[in-house]
This record gives sequence, C-alpha cells and structure tokens, in this order.
Amino acid sequence: MSNYHIKNLEEYFHVYKKSIQEPEVFWEEIAEEHFTWREKWTNVLSWDFSKPEIKWFENAKLNITENCIDRHLPTRGDKTAIIFEPNSPDEDALHISYNELHERVCKFANVLKLNGVAKGDRVIIYLPMIPELAVSVLACARIGAVHSVVFAGFSSTALSTRINDCEAKMVITSDGSYRGKKTIDLKGIVDEALDESPGVETVLVAKRINSEITMKSGRDIWLEPLLENASSECEIEIMDAEDPLFILYTSGSTGKPKGMLHTTAGYMVFTAYTFKNVFQYQDDDVYWCTADIGWITGHSYIVYGPLCNGATTLMFEGVPSYPDYGRFWQIVEEHKVNQFYTAPTAIRALAKENVDFVNSYDLSSLKVLGSVGEPINEEAWCWYNEHVGKKKSPIVDTWWQTETGGILISPIPHVTPTKPTFATLPLPGIEPALMDENGEEINGNQVDGKLCVKKPWPSIARTIWGDHQRYKETYFSAYENKYFTGDGALRDETGYYRITGRVDDVIIVSGHNMGTAPIEDAINEHPMVAESAIVGFPHDVKGNALYGFVTLKEVDESSETDNLRKQINQLITEQIGPIAKLDKIQFVNGLPKTRSGKIMRRILRKIATNDTGNLGDISTLLNPEVVQDIMDNSLQ
Ligand code: WT7
Repeated sequence: MSNYHIKNLEEYFHVYKKSIQEPEVFWEEIAEEHFTWREKWTNVLSWDFSKPEIKWFENAKLNITENCIDRHLPTRGDKTAIIFEPNSPDEDALHISYNELHERVCKFANVLKLNGVAKGDRVIIYLPMIPELAVSVLACARIGAVHSVVFAGFSSTALSTRINDCEAKMVITSDGSYRGKKTIDLKGIVDEALDESPGVETVLVAKRINSEITMKSGRDIWLEPLLENASSECEIEIMDAEDPLFILYTSGSTGKPKGMLHTTAGYMVFTAYTFKNVFQYQDDDVYWCTADIGWITGHSYIVYGPLCNGATTLMFEGVPSYPDYGRFWQIVEEHKVNQFYTAPTAIRALAKENVDFVNSYDLSSLKVLGSVGEPINEEAWCWYNEHVGKKKSPIVDTWWQTETGGILISPIPHVTPTKPTFATLPLPGIEPALMDENGEEINGNQVDGKLCVKKPWPSIARTIWGDHQRYKETYFSAYENKYFTGDGALRDETGYYRITGRVDDVIIVSGHNMGTAPIEDAINEHPMVAESAIVGFPHDVKGNALYGFVTLKEVDESSETDNLRKQINQLITEQIGPIAKLDKIQFVNGLPKTRSGKIMRRILRKIATNDTGNLGDISTLLNPEVVQDIMDNSLQ
C-alpha cells in the first residue's frame, strides 16, 4: 500500500496510525519514493521543543527546483506547469510548459548570480501576480538564495521594515500592477521604501504596465534585457536539507512582524504530500488557488506543492469583482479548473451578488473545492457547496498557518465525510492536542480548548529570522513540549475538529492575519492621538473587521472627528497597507486598564461585538468609570 496517496477512509486510518506510531519510517518512505535527492539523509528526525530545535532529513542534499521542474522534463516537458490568467479577460492567458518554466527559471537564476546574489543572500520579491513572481521565487531557490516575498498590497513602510529585518541586498519588483480597474505604482512604493533601506544594492524591475517610472542609475535595472541575454542553463545549487528556503513575514499580537523561516527538505516533502492528498490531484487536472503568492498559501499551494507533483497550477492576476462578479467562474469554465481553492471572505463577497453570476458558467469540471484562512461560517459553506459545487464537489476546509508551512487539519475529498464548519481530521503526521485553562491536555471527545500540536511535522517553521528567543516564547512556552497555535478549537463526538478562532490578539480580517500592535503604533503616530486599542468585530464579508478605540491628547468639542478618522486610516494605509484600515473608530475619554496599566481588551471586544450583557469582573480596573461612557457612545 502506498503511503503517498490516500484513496479511502480505511487507508486514511491505517496511514494515520502508522504516521503517529512510526513517524520516521512513515516520512522516510515517502521521501525516498517520491523525490529526487543528491545525497540521502543520515537521520530522519531529531527534535527538542525545549530549545526549540527541529531537523528533518538531516544531512540530505537536494534542490527543491530540481524536484519542482527538472525531474518532470523527461515525462512532462510539454505539459503546462503554470497558466497565467491576466487581470483583464481581454488579454490572453499564457500557458507555460515545464520546459519553458525550466528555461525561465534558469535565465532568472543566472541574472540573479550576475547581479551579485549568492547562496544564503536574502532577496525581497515585491511583485504582482505575474509569471515573474513564481519564476523569481524558483530562481532564488535554484541558487540557494533565501526569498522573502512581500505581498504587493503592503505599504512602503511595511516593505522597508521587512527589507531591513532580513538585510536583503536585492529587491525584485515591477513598474506597476493592475488590480481590477486600477493601476498601482509599485516602483514608486519601492523607491520610498528604499529611502529607509540603504542596504539594498540592486532593484530588478519587470515591465508590466508600461508606465513612466524613474530608474535610479547604479541601482535599478530593467529585467527583460537581462533575461534575454542570460543563459538558459543554470546548474542547481546543492542545498542541505536544513538550509533556509524562504522567510515569510506574519503579524504577531505584539511587536514587529515575525520572519518565519522555512527550510528546504521537510517543507518540500510536506507541501507536496499534502497537496496530493488534500486536492486529490490527478495527472491531467487543472488546479487553481486564488491566493496571492505573497502569502503562505501561495508559496505552498500555488508554487511548491503543485509543481513538485508535476501539476498544472493557475495564477490569477486580478480580483473576483472585475470586470464583474462572474470573473472567477468564467476562469473556471475557460480553463476547465478541477480543483478550486479560495478564502471564506471571497465566498461571502460573491454570495452577496446575484447567483446568476455563478449559474451563467459551466462549472462541471470542478471536483474539489477548498477553503482557507479563517473559519468558514455555515451559510458560506452551504452557498459554496450548493451553487459552486452543485453538491457534488466536497469542500476541504483546510486549517493551517504561515508557521506550519502546510495544511495540518483537513478533510481528504471523497475520503473523509465533510461537515460544515469543521476542518475534520488531522492529516498523517499531525497529532493535535486541546489544552485546558490549567495547561493540561483534555482527553476525550466533545471538548474544547486551546489548540496545540504534540510533535514536529516536516514543514514546521524552524525559527523567527534573527530572533530565536521570540520563536521559543511565542510557540513553545505556553505549554511544555508542545507547539501552541494561538487558535481555539473544539473536538466533536466523532473526533472532528472545528477551529473556533484566535485566542490571542491577532485578528483575521478577510483571511489576513492582522496583529493589533503595528496598527496601534500607526494610529499613535497621529499628533493628536494619545492612545489606542484595536479589537475585532464580526463582519458579514470580511469575517472580522477592525474597531479602534482612540483617546486624544486634547479633547475639543469642535474636533473634526470625521476628518481625524480619515487621517488615522491614512496613517494606517501608509504604515501597513489598506487591508489594515479600521471600519469603526470611536473616540473615548479613557481606555479600561488594569492596575498594572494593561489595556483590558476583553471589555473592548465585548463592546465592539455588542455583547455587553455580562462584562465580567471590572472591579479590578484602575478606571471602571470609563466603561459606561464607552458603552454609551459605542458605534454598534
Ligand atoms: C491563522 C493563520 C493558512 C494560510 C492562510 C492564513 C486562521 C487559517 C483556517 C481554517 C479556521 C483558519 C487561524 C490560523 N485559519 N485557516 N480553515 N479554519 N481558521 O495563514 O496568515 O498565518 O493565519 O488563520 O486562526 O491561526 P496565516
């Protein structure tokens, strides 16, 4: 029986049991049979969560791009690797075969080398969803450079913080990007960021929108002529299993963004394995994940996982609402998409529109529907199931995180019976645990608690770039000898998991992980603002929206509060990006604080969600009188 591809429930239980009882044997068999290695490992796994230190496939040598590209060439050279669907339906889609992808990646890798990038160097990629994004990611991996993709919706300040944190010497960007009807001046944002990031020596600029931009001589170089002149052969750099592959930043509840470091072999094995099983990918299928490659979903399940399986993976440059709300379904029809993977926020936005947008297209190619990024509510689940899947395509509600590298809890389609709002069962190799208030594991079913994982899986992030102590404190200190996810979950009577949401100060807005601290820092930069606190409240499309409570330095009856609100959101847009804007801003006389001066967000959360019936014990507050005042003036 092959461990690699699970085809029925009995097999799932068998494989799962083996993966828990003998994880090393289990992963070793998969690694041996399904990947290309330049040297084998000397040890499958060593780990110690107290340090924490995790090593998979120790001393093995490989290159992930050999696995994603080269090894497919003899059998699948002419097969389409990437379908690029542009922003506008009037522009033709591009089909890039595995042979062409090989050539593009080799050329790009040579350009990187000729411009001084060497193994271990960090390269920031700030690109829209155009082929150069996937190609540059793979080009870095081919020469052993560590890519760090920054989502091209982030502001110049956010970009420069990330460049400086990982000390990147190169940025790859484009003149601009298309987003629905709009164009965005990406190069202008990079220029601004680089005023604060003097360490960057080179900026490679791809041409996408043909806008007039300024090129700084000695620093900025157009990409296309370099690619034209580059050789189309580039030997792989031979990497150690635990060499860094990429850094991807994610927000935490406090402090600056965390540069999660993923390494090579374990990440490759786990993303490839989970892709195959969670999407039940068959050789001629067309797979489409609508995420941006700037997020972990795009890294693992647009680029690495699918390509490692020799799949055809679709990249979409645009937005679901342009030119109209039928765009997703038109693409499914046009490319006969078989697996479709998106976020609950997109589903909710589309479900609000006329269902004719869905019904006008032939969606009969669809076999599997995926959901990721936040809990999917029952209404959205049912709409997706009925109107998109026509009740014949199982929905895989996939739970995971930037830190986990790959999917940990998810149904396997046509194998695991689905249940609305439940991510169902752990994938092989994953041992979840629910923890109670006293830090003890809760056994049995029909229970809820804080979600941990008991043992390392191959694609767990190995550290936070430059701050191993923070890695330890954030993930391995809440519970001894366990990885803490930051999520709450319940386990039903059959052992199915339902993720209930964050239990810390991270708020998931439209599927994006928003830390409260950086947003509060941005607000506090306003000269009139004294203090602020952000909480989430339910929103029918975004899942959660942000509610800010703000105190001003001088309160003046004539303060133009609407104008102030605009200025605050403007500051947030500049510091982080438009995705972090607040939906509601309430100016208050004081924030509820504990005697040690800590803001009691619990109370603010209740006010923002209009759940003020039972505020709990507020007697320990330093200033209980502000609570009534905030409630009286609540914007809910
Ligand atoms: C957080 C991680 C995983 C890639 C996208 C987000 C929430 C993610 C689900 C799901 C309920 C989910 C969790 C998690 N989340 N998927 N299927 N059901 N919640 O990655 O930005 O690192 O965010 O997203 O709260 O901790 P991320």
